[in-house]
Amino acid sequence: MTQKAASIRRAADSVPNDSQEIGSAGGDDGILILAIANQKGGVGKTTTAINLSAALAQRGLPTLLVDLDPQGNATLSFLDPEQLHLSVYDALVDEDRTLKDAVHKTNIKSLDVIPARISLAKFESKLLGDIDSHFRLKDRLKTLLQDYRYIVIDTPPTLGLLTVNALVASTHLLVPIQSSYFALEGTDDLLVTIHDKRTILGRDIKNHIKEVFGSKVFRTIISRSVRLEESPAYKEPIFSFAPHSSGALQYYKLSEEVIGRV
Ligand SMILES: Nc1ncnc2c1ncn2[C@@H]1O[C@H](COP(=O)(O)OP(=O)(O)OP(=O)(O)O)[C@@H](O)[C@H]1O
Ligand SMILES: [Mg+2]
Repeated sequence: MTQKAASIRRAADSVPNDSQEIGSAGGDDGILILAIANQKGGVGKTTTAINLSAALAQRGLPTLLVDLDPQGNATLSFLDPEQLHLSVYDALVDEDRTLKDAVHKTNIKSLDVIPARISLAKFESKLLGDIDSHFRLKDRLKTLLQDYRYIVIDTPPTLGLLTVNALVASTHLLVPIQSSYFALEGTDDLLVTIHDKRTILGRDIKNHIKEVFGSKVFRTIISRSVRLEESPAYKEPIFSFAPHSSGALQYYKLSEEVIGRV
């Protein structure tokens, strides 16, 4: 086994099996709180958060998307900036607010969003030294647990306080991993995304990931697709932007797998 494979194997062993819980925010209530995280940038976290939450909602399952990335890209897929009345930052920091105050309805019937603005970048410095800083999201989500079946949390490409809050609040973790060489370098921990099945490298990396992580890898693989790349520019999830595209089909299948795993 190469050194890289060994280090990935070690990481894989430390990841709980398929449906084992990582946190305990709401697992007992039958609610799935899914953090989408990978400290690597541009691996498809936000694309997955947007389209997985849209797919779950389109199945009629009440779903909440929490945007915990100051870039706010997930937010902008569903809401216009002028529509935002309160963002996740205010709802997490302000003592007089609850997260419920920041819930926004979307055009998709069963999908609500708690939006992020660039102000969220201040979260870390604002909460620095607070004893509950890691638990803020988990604590404040409690009032929303009865309203949803799925809560999906998009995170920034760092392992800072925002991502830690998402991990602490979640019952499950989904790690998008791109089937490229650099995706494996330094990734300690899996949804294969932006996969190009035409290249030998893409196939090799996918096989390698499957070999090391086994059943922890979703069967669904998200292919590299121009439609998926374009859809955020049109502020739409893939299901309305290109309903018959491979990306729509794959994210729909992913939602089926997520439902089946828990
Ligand atoms: N399957 C895909 N095929 C082609 N392009 C994709 C695919 N998935 C995502 N992209 C594009 O790749 C870029 C990065 O994707 P995305 O924003 O989802 O990654 P991210 O992990 O959230 O990035 P960041 O770490 O900056 O938050 C975006 O331009 C997105 O449109
Ligand atoms: Mg992102």
